[in-house]
Order: sequence, then structure tokens, then C-alpha cells
Amino acid sequence: MPTIVITGASDGIGAAGARQLKGRGHDVVLVGRNQAKTAALARELNAPFHTADYTRLSDVKRLAAELGELGRIDVLVNNAGGIMGPRELTADGFEKSFQVNHLAAFLLTRLLLPRLVASRARVIQTASAAANMFGGRFDTADLNNERNYTPLGAYGRSKLANILFTRELDRRHHADGLAAVAFHPGVVRTNFASETTPMMRLVYHSPLKYLLPLSPARSAQRLVRLAEGAPGTDWQPGACYAGQRPMKVVYQDDGTAARLLWEQSEAFVKPWLA
Ligand SMILES: NC(=O)c1ccc[n+]([C@@H]2O[C@H](COP(=O)([O-])OP(=O)(O)OC[C@H]3O[C@@H](n4cnc5c(N)ncnc54)[C@H](OP(=O)(O)O)[C@@H]3O)[C@@H](O)[C@H]2O)c1
Repeated sequence: MPTIVITGASDGIGAAGARQLKGRGHDVVLVGRNQAKTAALARELNAPFHTADYTRLSDVKRLAAELGELGRIDVLVNNAGGIMGPRELTADGFEKSFQVNHLAAFLLTRLLLPRLVASRARVIQTASAAANMFGGRFDTADLNNERNYTPLGAYGRSKLANILFTRELDRRHHADGLAAVAFHPGVVRTNFASETTPMMRLVYHSPLKYLLPLSPARSAQRLVRLAEGAPGTDWQPGACYAGQRPMKVVYQDDGTAARLLWEQSEAFVKPWLA
């Protein structure tokens, strides 16, 4: 059975996806931030687990070394993420939304590339339609959001980065046998806005949350469909899906921004690649 690694698996869409994939017979490997929460799900599913806090790239490097011990990785689901609060730098010196939602997953994928290519893996990115709503002013010269920071703006740009990273990963490594795809999980009743503005917390962390259209379990069906689907047949490599169809991405890129994002990200994580 395929081995599927899911980050952000301790809660929300990742946890629901892990439950469904395990129930369908896959070997699921859980990655969470919180030891107790991740261990509890690991016990429930009788699955191995790892932890890493994406605000620390040294954690991501250790995680990649641990995951490198797996014989193969058939699917890597880069799902960990959330909306942050006021602008903050991590201990590594990067703006927190950019690091947690994009750079950490970039580093993990980059470190695992030999294993992913050897496994002819699929790499799935949990992106968001927020890329279209709030991802304006995406600027590869300002990836750390020094100008015009708002929590939603930085979140939208980090989710656009997920989409551009998916395209560039697929462009660079499709010929090696790897395939990448991103998806918008819908508007889902989860905790992902727990660290952000009062307005978003009100929507996601009050009884109002039950007005949000999707349960994590419903949303995770999108993840399962991509994880089990065949690239080129069931989904278009390099695309970002919303439901069954590729999502129109408002931000126009002829490939230059995707390439610059990759090059900048690679330069940023260089100390952790050695
Ligand atoms: N919910 C929505 O409406 C929605 C819409 C579009 C896209 N998304 C995307 O869906 C993905 C999953 O989010 P969710 O809605 O399922 O929210 P969630 O229930 O809060 O789950 C987020 C997961 O990411 C982990 N995480 C958060 N910060 C982390 C960090 N610094 N280091 C490592 N892991 C971290 C969380 O760990 P803890 O358990 O320790 O918090 C949790 O496992 C995110 O990428 C989000 O951007 C969600």
C-alpha cells in the first residue's frame, strides 16, 4: 500500500484526511506540531508520527532526516499552515506566514527530493482561494512582507506561493517521475485562524463557525481524491484544484515569478540544505 506523509495532521483537514486514508488501507505517516495532539491521533490510527514546529527550520531539517528513513514516500501532503497575527519574524529571521505556510514546506520537499523522485511521488499542497482574494501585491523582492503587511494579505500571498511552488516543482521534476498538485480545501470549520485577527477568530472560533460550509471530513475528500488519483488522468500536474476542477488563478505569471520564488526560497534555506 502507498505510504502517505501528511503534515498538519494533528487537526482539521489533515487529521480528517489521515483518518480517511488510513481507513482506505494506506500507510499513513503523521506530522504535527504538538506532541500530545499528534500522538493521540497516532494511537487512534495506529500510525507512526513525527513532530516539527515550522517556525524553526532546524525542526524541518530534523523532520526530513527522520522521514528519509522511510523506505519510500508515495505521497507527500504539505498541509500544515494557518493565518498569523501581527507581523512577526521567526527565530530564523523570516516573516512567520511566509515561513510556516511556504518556506518550511519548500525546505522539507527540497530535502526529501531524492526520496520523492526515487518513489515517483505525488506532492500535494493545501493552498487556498485566499490566493485569489488576498494574494495581490505578490512580490518576489518582498517575500518577507516588509511592505504592506496585513495578516490576510500575507496569508493570501503565502497561499499563492503554494500554487507557484507546485507549478515550479512540477516543471522542474515532472520528467524525473514526480508530479505536484495544489488544492483549495473549501471554507472549512477548523482552527486555522486561531492565531490571527479578532474578526477571523470570530468567524472560525465562535458558534458562527457552524455557518462555514464544510466539515473537515467533507473537505478532506478533496485531499483523498488527489492522493489516490493518477496524475495526468485524474488531475492535471501543476494545477490548483477547487473541487473537481482546476481553479482559475487570478495572478498572472508566465513562469518568471514561480522561478524567482524557487530561487529565493532556495537561497533563504541554504544554511539548512548543507
Ligand atoms: N479551514 C479553511 O477554511 C481553509 C481554507 C483554505 C485553506 N486552508 C488551509 O488548510 C490547511 C490546514 O488547515 P486547517 O484548516 O485544517 O487548520 P487546523 O485545524 O488549524 O490545522 C492546521 C494544522 O497545521 C499545523 N500547524 C499550524 N502551525 C504550525 C507550525 N508553526 N508548525 C507546524 N505545524 C503547524 C497545526 O498544528 P496544531 O494542531 O499544533 O495547531 C495543524 O496540524 C492550511 O494550510 C490552511 O491554510 C484552510
